[in-house]
This record gives sequence, C-alpha cells and structure tokens, in this order.
Amino acid sequence: MSVRLAPSILAADFAALGACIAAAERGGADLIHVDVMDGHFVPNLTVGPAVVRSVKRVAQVPLDVHLMIEDPDRFIPAFAEAGASLISVHVEALPHLHRTIHLIKDLGLKAGVALNPSTPVGSLEEVAADVDFVLVMTVNPGFGGQTYIRRSTSKVRAMRALLDEAGNAAPIEVDGGIDEATITDVVLAGADWIVAGSSVFGSPDAEASARRLKAQAVAAAQQRLTGSRSVR
Ligand code: DX5
Ligand code: ZN
Repeated sequence: MSVRLAPSILAADFAALGACIAAAERGGADLIHVDVMDGHFVPNLTVGPAVVRSVKRVAQVPLDVHLMIEDPDRFIPAFAEAGASLISVHVEALPHLHRTIHLIKDLGLKAGVALNPSTPVGSLEEVAADVDFVLVMTVNPGFGGQTYIRRSTSKVRAMRALLDEAGNAAPIEVDGGIDEATITDVVLAGADWIVAGSSVFGSPDAEASARRLKAQAVAAAQQRLTGSRSVR
C-alpha cells in the first residue's frame, strides 16, 4: 500500500490557489484535497463545484473531494462533472449509505466513507467490502488548524482490522491536525493517505513542508511494512 500525501486547499490562499497547488505538487503531493462544507452538516462554508472545476484545470494530480454536507447525493454528479476523481461522504449524513457509495462508483469515481471522531468503526461494518477508501476524521470536521485527537490512532488500527476482516485492502485516509509531530504514529497505526492543511499551506514554504511530511510518511510506511514482515 503506497502512502499518499493530500494537501488540503482549505488552508491555502484562495487568491493564489494555482501557485499553492503547484508548490504542493513540487513537494510531492499525490492528491489535492478539497473540503466542501455547507454550514449545516458542519458549522462552516467553503466551496462548490465551480472551484473544483477551476482547480481541475491547474492540478496535475487527482482531486480528492471531501463532502461535509447534508444530502450529498444531490451534488455528487456535479462534483464528478467538475473533475473530482475521489469523493468521500459522511456516514453521519446518510441514511442510505450503500446507495450513495454505489452512486459515486457508477459515475466512475473512487468512493470513500468518512467518519467523525465520535462515530464508531463498527458503523462501517455492512459496507466494509464496498468502499474504495475510508476517511477517519482525526478532528471534528469544520475547520483547519485544530489539534489531532489522540484516540484516533487506535481507531485507525481498528478500522484496518475491520477492512481486513472484510477482505478489502482499501486505503485509510486521515484528516485533521496532521503535522510533523503526529504523522509518524498515525501512519504506523495504518493510515495510508494523509490530508494536511495548515502543516503544508500554513507554512511559509509549502513545497518544503510537503516534502518533509511526505518523507516522514514514506519512512513510517516502510517501517510498518518491515515490522509486519518481522512478526510473521
Ligand atoms: C476539516 C477538514 C480538513 C482540514 C484539515 O474539517 O476536513 O481537511 O482542511 O486541516 P488541518 O490539516 O489544518 O487540520
Ligand atoms: Zn477534509
């Protein structure tokens, strides 16, 4: 499982998005994470399909669109059409989660399910074989720059076990409060894709920050692999 860095443009300068994205890509970004918030599911407002369409024109890497909105089914086709390659939806927002996962897949995109910190790993049990990736929120969604919730590390481990049990090698993405102090432990616990907002774009040199985070994540993923080989 290769580790991927997904800088979140929520922390970028929206008047200079193209330059911010290019810097993150030079630093090794594998995905660009776009946070969509509706002021209902989370207490903040951000961007819609129009911004995704513009970002798509300048980004070299796939767009990872994280929908923190009520009734995401209404908007999924518009985000797909705007250029999203991956879409994650929140289990807490969806009474018909299985249907939504397949709606995303039927549009030819990768479907992810996101869980808030207070949502148990077991809530994914019935769809564990269907998801292309799982997004474990490591802060309460709504804002960048929050502190990583420590309990998330064991949650990532439990999520890996649930997916393995279902025979699904789908990657686990983590989102919120990931920086040079928290990235190693969360990757060792089983995180594969790392969202990083403030720790990339809040720094004066986004390229260098992305490069450092990516190197740390790659090293931890390598350590995880070596460790799991040695216990066999
Ligand atoms: C929070 C968003 C995150 C946010 C992460 O609701 O889902 O993607 O941008 O920001 P940092 O990395 O600053 O915690
Ligand atoms: Zn996000």
